[in-house]
Amino acid sequence: MKQDNIFSKTQQVVDFAFDDSVADVFPDMIRRSVPGYETIISLLGVLANQYAQDNTRVYDLGCSLGAATLSIHQQTRTLDLEHICIDNSEAMVKRCESRLDRLMPEANLQLLCEDIEKAEIKDASVVVVNFTLQFLTPETRLALLKKIYEGLLPNGVLVLSEKLVFDDSTENQHQIDWHHNFKRANGYSDLEISQKRAAIENIMIPDTFEQHQQRLQEAGFDESYQWFQSFNFVSMVAIKH
Ligand SMILES: C[S@@+](CC[C@H](N)C(=O)[O-])C[C@H]1O[C@@H](n2cnc3c(N)ncnc32)[C@H](O)[C@@H]1O
Repeated sequence: MKQDNIFSKTQQVVDFAFDDSVADVFPDMIRRSVPGYETIISLLGVLANQYAQDNTRVYDLGCSLGAATLSIHQQTRTLDLEHICIDNSEAMVKRCESRLDRLMPEANLQLLCEDIEKAEIKDASVVVVNFTLQFLTPETRLALLKKIYEGLLPNGVLVLSEKLVFDDSTENQHQIDWHHNFKRANGYSDLEISQKRAAIENIMIPDTFEQHQQRLQEAGFDESYQWFQSFNFVSMVAIKH
């Protein structure tokens, strides 16, 4: 696993992009930056195994290197599923393709380099949006969730993981401090933490948990729950009846 040193030297910070340099170190970057990431990935497979229906599709929207799809595939081998992985970063899709071809060669897999806002979603029993909704402009998020709801079969689920902000400014500050300490404990310097924060703040706009709940309800979901939290990172399940 290549180490993420992208923000280790003082630099003119520009907006973060999922380009070749990020894709090259992505497994190390996300593991050291998102508390609970590996647990979420492995439990996603367990959740998917409960809800995936034979002869349906499983979508991984904003798939990066396909970690969620791989976990789901490992837990659902007895089912006939079509895995649709979508990401609009060419750098990610290129690496995802060779990785999944190698690690799940027997799977029925479609890998698309496109904007998830334009993607068609149909016949889905499971849709995963793992730390990607936060990169869409806030006004377009509801439309994506409505499209996912429409594309899900009855009893299908959306698994949605996101970084949160908190209405209470004291809690919000604690959560940020705890998260930054997690990054320090994983070897990131204060310079790396502050430059990454500056690079990402214009392109990743987190919502509160209440905004997510309300949006999921407005999109049509009959039930939604938080099933995981680690500091300011959560994962939710939304169910269509
Ligand atoms: C934080 S990463 C997701 C991590 C990944 N889901 C995982 O579990 O390892 C966000 C990904 O979303 C992709 N992305 C962001 N906006 C997108 C969009 N509008 N359409 C498709 N992909 C998008 C990025 O290229 C990036 O690969």
